[in-house]
Amino acid sequence: MKLIPLRNLVLVGTLLLFSYMILESEVLIEGTFDTLVTGGAGFVGHHVLMKMPNAVGIDSFNNYYDVSLKYKRAKISGRVIEGNVCDIVLMRRIIHKYNIKKVIHLAAQAGVRYSLKNPQAYVKSNVECFVQLLEVLKNLNIPLIYASSSSVYGKNTKVPFSETDPVIQPASLYAATKRENELLAHVYYNLYKQQSIGLRFFTVYGPMGRPDMAYFSFTKNIMEGKPINVFNYGEVSRDFTYIDDIVNGIIGCTKIDFTYEIMNLGRGQPHTVGEFIRFIEKATGKKAIKKMMPMAKGDVLITYANVSKATTLVGYRPQVTLEDGINKFVKWYKNN
Ligand SMILES: NC(=O)c1ccc[n+]([C@@H]2O[C@H](COP(=O)([O-])OP(=O)(O)OC[C@H]3O[C@@H](n4cnc5c(N)ncnc54)[C@H](O)[C@@H]3O)[C@@H](O)[C@H]2O)c1
Repeated sequence: MKLIPLRNLVLVGTLLLFSYMILESEVLIEGTFDTLVTGGAGFVGHHVLMKMPNAVGIDSFNNYYDVSLKYKRAKISGRVIEGNVCDIVLMRRIIHKYNIKKVIHLAAQAGVRYSLKNPQAYVKSNVECFVQLLEVLKNLNIPLIYASSSSVYGKNTKVPFSETDPVIQPASLYAATKRENELLAHVYYNLYKQQSIGLRFFTVYGPMGRPDMAYFSFTKNIMEGKPINVFNYGEVSRDFTYIDDIVNGIIGCTKIDFTYEIMNLGRGQPHTVGEFIRFIEKATGKKAIKKMMPMAKGDVLITYANVSKATTLVGYRPQVTLEDGINKFVKWYKNN
C-alpha cells in the first residue's frame, strides 16, 4: 500500500477548511442572535425582524410576487440569510452557529387563490418543509412559533371563530396545508415533546405588504384609475388586522412558556369589503371602478376572530382600526 505524504494531507485539510470558511462567511451573517425568523424577507417576517434586533432571518426569495420587494425588505433589516427551510444541513448550521433558542416560522407559500393554480408549491413549502423543520428541531428543546391561518375555519358559520371550534371544513388547499401544520405540530409534541404555538393570522395588512393581497392591488388600481374585481358583489367580510398588532402578538409568544397551543391573532372587528374599499377611496382621494363578480372559488364569506385566548396568554390587545391602518398603508404606498 502506498502511503500519502503527510504534507499532502495537511494541504488538502487546509484547503477544505479554507473553502468551508469562505462558504460559511458567504452564506451566514455575522452577529449575535438567539431567534431565527423563517420567511424573514416576507411581509410579516420583515416586520418581526425590525422589532427584534436579536433575530436573524432566512428566506428563499421565491418569485410568488415581486422579488425586488423581498430584497428591499432584506436590505432594510440587513439580517436575512438566503436559503431554504427544506435545507436541513443549512438549518442545522444556522441553529448551531448562533445558538438559536427560538424559531418563528413564517416561511410558507401564502395566498388562497394561487393554491388553485399551483397546489404543489403549497405541499412543498407548507407541508414538506414544515416536516423538515420539525425534524431539525426535535429533541433540541427549541420552542417553535409558527404561522397558521384563519382560513382553517373554512366554511364554519359560527362567529366569532374560536380555537375550540371544529376545523374540519377547509375551503382551499392553502387552508388544508395550514391545518396540516397544526396536526403535525401535535404529532411532534406527542412524540418528542416539541413545544409549539400555531398562530391563526387574520388578513394581515400594512406598509411593505404583499402585492397579491386585495388592500395592495385595490390601492394600486384605484390610484391608477383601473377597475378592481369585487367578489361576491362586496358581500364578504374580513377581520383585517394591522401588521403592528400581529407583530406584538408574535413577540408576546416569545416571552411565555408553552407546550402545544393554537391561538387566533386577529382584530376581532370584521368589515365588509365594501367598507374596506370606501376607506381606500377616502385615503387615496379617488373613486374605485368596481367590477362586481360572483364568489371566488376557495373563498369564504366571513372571517372573525375571537382573540380572548391571545389576550389571556400574551396580553394581546389589537390597537389599530381599519381606517387608521389603511391610511398608514396608503401613505406608505404613495411614497414608494
Ligand atoms: N399576510 C396574511 O394575511 C396572512 C394570513 C394568514 C396567514 N399568513 C401566514 O403568515 C406567514 C407569513 O405571511 P406573509 O404575508 O409574510 O407572506 P410572504 O409571502 O410575504 O412571506 C413568506 C416568505 O417565505 C418565503 N418562503 C416560502 N417558502 C420558503 C422556504 N421553503 N424556505 C425559505 N423561505 C421560504 C417566501 O420567499 C416569502 O418571502 C405565512 O406562513 C402565511 O401563510 C399570512
